Amino acid sequence: MVRVVTQHLDACEDHDLAIRTAGQLLRDGELVAIPTETVYGLAACISNEEALGRIFVVKGRPSDNPLIVHIAQLGQVDELATVDATSRRLIDVFWPGALTLVLPKRENVGDRITAGLDTVAIRLPSLAITREIIRAAGEPLAAPSANTSGKPSATTAQHVLSDFGGRIAAVVDAGPCVQGIESTVVRVVGERVIVLRPGSVTRAQLVSAIGGVVELSGPEDADSVTSPGTRHRHYAPQATVVLCNTVEDIGKQVATLPAGFTAVLLAVERPAVDVEWRWLTSSTLYAELRRADDLHVNKILVHCTAAVQLDEALMNRLRKASEPFIESV
Ligand code: TXA
Ligand code: MG
Repeated sequence: MVRVVTQHLDACEDHDLAIRTAGQLLRDGELVAIPTETVYGLAACISNEEALGRIFVVKGRPSDNPLIVHIAQLGQVDELATVDATSRRLIDVFWPGALTLVLPKRENVGDRITAGLDTVAIRLPSLAITREIIRAAGEPLAAPSANTSGKPSATTAQHVLSDFGGRIAAVVDAGPCVQGIESTVVRVVGERVIVLRPGSVTRAQLVSAIGGVVELSGPEDADSVTSPGTRHRHYAPQATVVLCNTVEDIGKQVATLPAGFTAVLLAVERPAVDVEWRWLTSSTLYAELRRADDLHVNKILVHCTAAVQLDEALMNRLRKASEPFIESV
């Protein structure tokens, strides 16, 4: 079921009317939070400079962090960017889906979207409702994740409303996002296929689609191709996040918790330590981080077993959530 919650209509539960309402608001230059298979996005029409500017204000997003353009059908990618053969192969295999491609942009893509770069990030979402909203808006939608900058992404309409309630025109509520972790951002440079942000599509899946090597961009890479967004603090709750490799680490953390402090453990198996715990999964990570904050938990312990450590996207988000605050460079 889909419903749209607007400032004017409390909640409209008629599917077609909800989609039409969202489309009309977007055409009118409003910001609308939209569901996708990964996380909720905060959307604006790509041709509306003023609305695009407001996305950065509402999120508190640094202006040097470009936006992903969401399209409703394959053909639209060629109107916005030039597509090399390897990227085309990735499109054939992974679209619609949780793969964002960074491609050389065409002139019609403005600087607000690309933050002045000569490339544009594009994805064709697999959630049918997302594509229906894009069609109703009449043009592709630029949409970063629908969370206050630096905070965990939103995987339910309630998360969106708790960050932006009253400051955006509407949220289209399609329930919790199925994947719950953002898309994989990939750039092809000559022969190199580089993952700028690990995500729902794994490197193993990319390798099996194209063969050869798929690199992971990192600051240690001298000729690195990076993504502006990876420089900024991300995915962090108010609580301190502590990554624990062993049960002993968890035990120490629990034993040394100051009086009056509370902790919750996220784990993939029942802990041997006496502590409140919740399941750790990619699809519910952000919801758990937000839940801990709602309950004013002081520490979120995460049991990073060998299996968890193999999950590149999950570990990427966990590391970022546990980083101390570093001013963006
Ligand atoms: O799953 C997703 O990707 C979600 C949903 C809403 O589609 N969107 C999302 O957007 O996560 P956002 O803005 O939170 O993250 C976009 C990432 C940022 O790290 C940004 O720097 C990078 O994509 N990006 C966007 N345009 C880029 C470009 N031209 N070159 C390199 N990186 C780019
Ligand atoms: Mg984001």
